[in-house]
Amino acid sequence: MLAEESRPPKVAQRVSVEFGIPFEHADGAVSDFLYRMGALGFVRADDQSCQGRLRERYLTLLKSTLSNLVYAEHELRIEQLEQEGTDAGRPRRLRDIRYDNPDLFDELIAHKADGRVWRRRATRFSHTMIGLRRLENLEWCAGQIFKDGLEGDFLEAGVCQGGAAIFLRALQVAHEQAHRITWVADSFQGLPKPSSEFDKGYDLHEAVQPWLAASLRSVQDNFRTYDLLSEQVRFLPGWFADSLPDAPVEKLAILRIDADYYSSTREVLEALYDKVVPGGFIIIDDYHAFPNCRRAVDEFRVERGIMDGLTRIDWTAVFWRKT
Ligand SMILES: C[S@@+](CC[C@H](N)C(=O)[O-])C[C@H]1O[C@@H](n2cnc3c(N)ncnc32)[C@H](O)[C@@H]1O
Repeated sequence: MLAEESRPPKVAQRVSVEFGIPFEHADGAVSDFLYRMGALGFVRADDQSCQGRLRERYLTLLKSTLSNLVYAEHELRIEQLEQEGTDAGRPRRLRDIRYDNPDLFDELIAHKADGRVWRRRATRFSHTMIGLRRLENLEWCAGQIFKDGLEGDFLEAGVCQGGAAIFLRALQVAHEQAHRITWVADSFQGLPKPSSEFDKGYDLHEAVQPWLAASLRSVQDNFRTYDLLSEQVRFLPGWFADSLPDAPVEKLAILRIDADYYSSTREVLEALYDKVVPGGFIIIDDYHAFPNCRRAVDEFRVERGIMDGLTRIDWTAVFWRKT
């Protein structure tokens, strides 16, 4: 692991000497490179204290657990039971399912780690569907906020079973920033029927995608399961157009939007973008996955004259840092 704080000057000196370029240029390029690698989860500030190592292990275990990478083989077991019902010899096959078809198991793990829906079913069994890269991105963004001493709460709009929001809360708690609020915004009944012309052809409402609808009670229970439900976790139930414009949110350091539709993404940006503090992050989960979501973001950025560059996180998600 590369210590972000201490190594760039030394690396920059080497680059400067090696390539015969002024130190300032080398330093800028190295910092920019590390910044981008950090955003993608490849570089982290090293904290070798006992507390730092424990925190890292806690967060690493949490990312696996929230993604159901820990008990992933149960997903195959349930699938097999659903497909084949009871038959003789099943107990042995269920027990050894991971080893009977290792390619299938590897495929499942790869899709979950990558935050991709697998056979339209991956989200049934994990508390988040966003995968490890996007969880690491949250870790990095939160780290920047804490390091820079910026004010602001964290908010996710579009939480499904709550896993990414649970991770946002865990980051606050693990970094002794528990006074900040984690806002959890969702209809808690899935997506609405598409209303915008740009969402036609992307109908994801509950009758079509039942697993995208998780009740308020079940999300609160999921927070409780991780011992992360507290007064500082605030729920904003309702359709975004109703719940967000007058929400008692004051300042946001992280605004994470994971709402799939054009209409939903625009509603969140319009209600909350101005509450993001300078230096805060706006993360768009579905930018490359859904052209309708991308349209909402691109339109909003043009209308507001936002020039802050978009950084790609993985195959779908992007973020920008507000200047
Ligand atoms: C893809 S899921 C979110 C996944 C989640 N972030 C995770 O960690 O797995 C999309 C969520 O957005 C919510 N949603 C979409 N449009 C909405 C709207 N207009 N108002 C309220 N909730 C909405 C849905 O209820 C659903 O829970």
